[in-house]
Amino acid sequence: MEINGKRIVITGATSGIGLEVLKLLLKYDVHILAVGRNMENLPQNDKVFPLRCDVASKEGVESVFAEAQEKLGGVDLFWANAGYGCYQKFGEPDWQKMESIFYTNVFSPFYSLEKLLTLYPDQNIRFMVTDSIAGQMEVPGYALYVATKFAINGGMKSIQYEVPRKVKLSIIYPVATRTRFFERAGTTIDRSGPIQSSEACARVILRGIKKDRKKIYPYRLWPFAYFILMLFPFVKRIILKILNKELQHMWGK
Ligand SMILES: NC(=O)c1ccc[n+]([C@@H]2O[C@H](COP(=O)([O-])OP(=O)(O)OC[C@H]3O[C@@H](n4cnc5c(N)ncnc54)[C@H](OP(=O)(O)O)[C@@H]3O)[C@@H](O)[C@H]2O)c1
Repeated sequence: MEINGKRIVITGATSGIGLEVLKLLLKYDVHILAVGRNMENLPQNDKVFPLRCDVASKEGVESVFAEAQEKLGGVDLFWANAGYGCYQKFGEPDWQKMESIFYTNVFSPFYSLEKLLTLYPDQNIRFMVTDSIAGQMEVPGYALYVATKFAINGGMKSIQYEVPRKVKLSIIYPVATRTRFFERAGTTIDRSGPIQSSEACARVILRGIKKDRKKIYPYRLWPFAYFILMLFPFVKRIILKILNKELQHMWGK
C-alpha cells in the first residue's frame, strides 16, 4: 500500500507498539487519528489528531468513526490495536474482568471492522488488527487474554475469506514486546519466549503495511518456531508443562 496521502486511524496509539508505528508513519504525508486514553506521550504534530476515547464500547467505536469523518474526511486504513493482557491464577470468579477484556480485545475490533465495511462500502480500505502469538498458542497464566486473542485469530481469519477484494485485512502477531503491556497485565515481561523491542516490532509492521501482508510477524522466526511446535505437539506440551510448573511453584501450590 502506498502510505502517502492516507487517512489513518490507530486505536492504542498512545503507548507501546501503536505509538512506535505512529512515529514511523509521521515521515509520510499522512493524517492520523490517534486514539487512546492517556494522551501525554503523543507527539505534537500537524499530522496527528488526538482522540481521547475508550474503545471498549459501541459508543466509543462510533465516536472514533465520527471523529475520523470530521477530522480526516474518511478512513483509508483502520488499525484496531488497543488491547491489554491479564495475568492471573485462573479460578477467582470475576465476571467484570472477563467482560472488560472481551469488550476491548474482541468486540471492539470486530465492531470496528463492521462499521468500516458499512460506512465505506465502495472504497479501497485496509483494516489491521493486533493479535498475538498468544492467539496461536496456549500460555498458562494468561488464559483470559489467550482466549481473546484466539477469538481474534479465528474470527479475523474467517472474515479474510468473506470480505470483497478491495478490502485488505491484516493480522499482526507480535511476540513479547517491551511495552507497558506486562506491567498493565500485572506481571513483568515474559521471558519464556522471544522478546522484541517496540521499535523493532514497529519497523516490521510498517514494512507489512507497505507490502500488503495478510499476516504480519514482527518476530521473523516465529512462523518457523510455530511450524515446529505444530509438527511436534509433544514438544509444545513439554514446554507448556514446564511453564505451568514454574507458575504453580510461584503461586505457592
Ligand atoms: N507487548 C506485548 O508483549 C504484546 C504481544 C502481543 C500482542 N500485543 C498486543 O499489542 C497491542 C498493543 O499493546 P502494547 O504492547 O503496545 O501495550 P501498551 O503499551 O499497554 O499499549 C496499549 C494501548 O492500547 C490502548 N488501550 C487499551 N485499552 C483501551 C481502551 N479501552 N480504549 C482506548 N485505548 C485503549 C492504550 O491506551 P492508553 O494507554 O492511552 O490507555 C495504549 O495506547 C495490544 O492489542 C496487545 O494485546 C502486545
